[in-house]
Amino acid sequence: MRFVPSSCLREGMITGKDIFGKDGVFLLAKDQIVSNAIVEKIVELGYQGIYIKDEISADIEIRNVIDDSIRQKAISAVKSMFESLDKNNEKKMEESLEAAKRLVEDIIDEIMNSKDLIINMVDLKVFDDYTYYHSVNVAVISMVIGMTMGLSRDDLCKLGLGALLHDIGKVFVPKEILNKEGNLSDEEMQLVRNHAEDGYAYLKEKWDIPIKSCLAVLIHHERYNGTGYPKGKRNDKIHLFGRIIAVADVYDAFTSDRPYRKAVLPSDAVEYIMGASGVYFDPEVVRIFVQKVAPYPLGTCVKLSNGNVGIVIDNYEDVCLRPKIRLLNTDEEVIIDLKNDSDSWNITIIGVEEI
Ligand SMILES: [Fe+2]
Repeated sequence: MRFVPSSCLREGMITGKDIFGKDGVFLLAKDQIVSNAIVEKIVELGYQGIYIKDEISADIEIRNVIDDSIRQKAISAVKSMFESLDKNNEKKMEESLEAAKRLVEDIIDEIMNSKDLIINMVDLKVFDDYTYYHSVNVAVISMVIGMTMGLSRDDLCKLGLGALLHDIGKVFVPKEILNKEGNLSDEEMQLVRNHAEDGYAYLKEKWDIPIKSCLAVLIHHERYNGTGYPKGKRNDKIHLFGRIIAVADVYDAFTSDRPYRKAVLPSDAVEYIMGASGVYFDPEVVRIFVQKVAPYPLGTCVKLSNGNVGIVIDNYEDVCLRPKIRLLNTDEEVIIDLKNDSDSWNITIIGVEEI
């Protein structure tokens, strides 16, 4: 199985995973032939691409760290919370919040039982439901980092809930500002920035939510060097939850299409975060992040510095930029292990090939 960008999708390809439309509606099962109508629908929904099965990726198994059904339920719960708040429906908000708390527990169980805790997938989003998909991805990445850092189950629950709710305050920001394609004025920017404090105040005053989770919402835009908001706190004056969610939030936002810019590749987003380690982000959180989020996810086609093209078949936690690759431009099977083959140490990945 491998990820194929929407621009490279063709009729007749075979789906590698179930595809969901808006509101989690089932669109097409895995192992089905993709029609032109489906290709159009995928583009219309704003998917960057889908997972397909083909000859070059037949032996590559790609698993999300959490089960697809839990992911879809979590997306629905987050959507329901945002909509309940928007419509001032307190009963529905209470139900969705309880559902979200249970799903955080389910996600922790999944992560704890996962054999392979590397995030090796491009997490695909329906454009209109971006905020809900994003919230779930940020929660999963944050919890994987938190678990690797040795947080207790109780703290992982609080971190996960804070991450799921980190942008709830955006309900209070006018939609035309959130969806604006051009640059924001200073005044508009301030309205967007208010979402951190507004979300915190709303959750703390209204609901029975652990204070650490509320705090995570308040501080997820603080930056390690003190240039963030709302308070401009720095270093370990920012609670660990805020330092973790900051990295997960930026990574997932960068790898998603937004009204004002296209998604960047996972490798570019990881490099940005590595570059900002110790500046915007806590170096220890970044160190764990790069072990857990693969810059070249399984099934990515890459260009090598020696002119070859290959497909990523394995990733290593300790050397994230040097995966194991099977060449695609050779008659016989050639596997290059950029980490373990000493005769390959002079070869680097110089880009991603869209095939
Ligand atoms: Fe935010």
